[in-house]
Amino acid sequence: MERLITDVKSTFINTFNTEPILIFSPGRINIIGEHTDYNEGFVFPAAVNKGIVAAFQKSNSGKCSVHALDMDSKIEFSLDKITPDAPGSWTNYILGVIAEIQNRSHIIDNFNMVFKGNIPAGSGMSSSAALENSVVYGLNELFNLGLSKHDMIHISQKAEHNYVGVNCGIMDQYASMFGIKNNALLLDCRTIESKPFEINFKDHQLILINTNVKHSLSESAYNDRRSVCENISELLKVKALRDTSEDDLKTIKDNVTPENYQKALYIIQENERALNAAKAMQNDDLETLGNLIYASHHGLQHQYKVSCEELDFLVEQAKLNKHVLGARMMGGGFGGCTINLVAKEKVEAFTETVSKAYLRKFNKACSVYFVELSNGTHVI
Ligand code: GLA
Repeated sequence: MERLITDVKSTFINTFNTEPILIFSPGRINIIGEHTDYNEGFVFPAAVNKGIVAAFQKSNSGKCSVHALDMDSKIEFSLDKITPDAPGSWTNYILGVIAEIQNRSHIIDNFNMVFKGNIPAGSGMSSSAALENSVVYGLNELFNLGLSKHDMIHISQKAEHNYVGVNCGIMDQYASMFGIKNNALLLDCRTIESKPFEINFKDHQLILINTNVKHSLSESAYNDRRSVCENISELLKVKALRDTSEDDLKTIKDNVTPENYQKALYIIQENERALNAAKAMQNDDLETLGNLIYASHHGLQHQYKVSCEELDFLVEQAKLNKHVLGARMMGGGFGGCTINLVAKEKVEAFTETVSKAYLRKFNKACSVYFVELSNGTHVI
């Protein structure tokens, strides 16, 4: 992290000859509650010690400039004509946030920004929310916009909807902004309020294993899942699937395809699982927590259908090892990481076996990450 800060700061000073404001904005993990956020349900994420470091200062050059150090890519633009760039460009995360700030009638002036991150791209740890939050947080500081953290996460989320084209929920932006060191947050995505849970699994720990794949259909499939959920809510005459039960769902069984029925059923069950996971944690019952995590993956794989061969393989490998209490895909799906609850003493043996098996099977390496739970977006 120190290295990252030094890189960003020295590049900024060398380029612009002035001291910047520095912001750290973290990525996130999610223990359980996947795809429940846009159904106004419960999720259980935590901010991590990997993220984006961004430097900001006002500019008097008559334009804005942003330098993405990782990609060694720069843009310059004028604040009076912000429009989306080509789909897939990193610049949309920045431009989207600026556009949303302007849409809310806040006035910002020209600025320079340099940023760099250490969240592996496509890992499902939400480097996008980290970047959006760093921009809105930095501009709020620089121009005294008076935005609350809640305002800021909604700006970040809208940027993702309108400029990136992913109709995401609020989990990633919330976790990245509101994270608390050593805690996971049980977030109610309707009230946007959370309850912190100190995470100390004693002789167990959470580890991430990255498939190092990101299948291309992920964005359209994500938006598609979201519309299925909204259509079924409408049929059930509820605001969101969070308001419904398995029994309610049965009443419309004949009006939806079997595939979509399973998707809605998954959401109802996953929402329950997130709440039950919180209870299990309160009771120090890691076995139950682990089983809920496995059940979550089963639902994501077979009912919600957002997993992929590589993720399923990693979870199957985990199941073969009795020292792993639970494992599942994490995030939107179609690639990225699994999250695993593993006995501390057996982590090395487990990750070694899995890594070898993965390499044999896919002729490609997976990566293992140990993360610490960290505070949310803040000034360094
Ligand atoms: C992505 C989205 C989140 C959430 C997860 C799935 O990370 O950005 O809002 O829906 O997928 O739980």
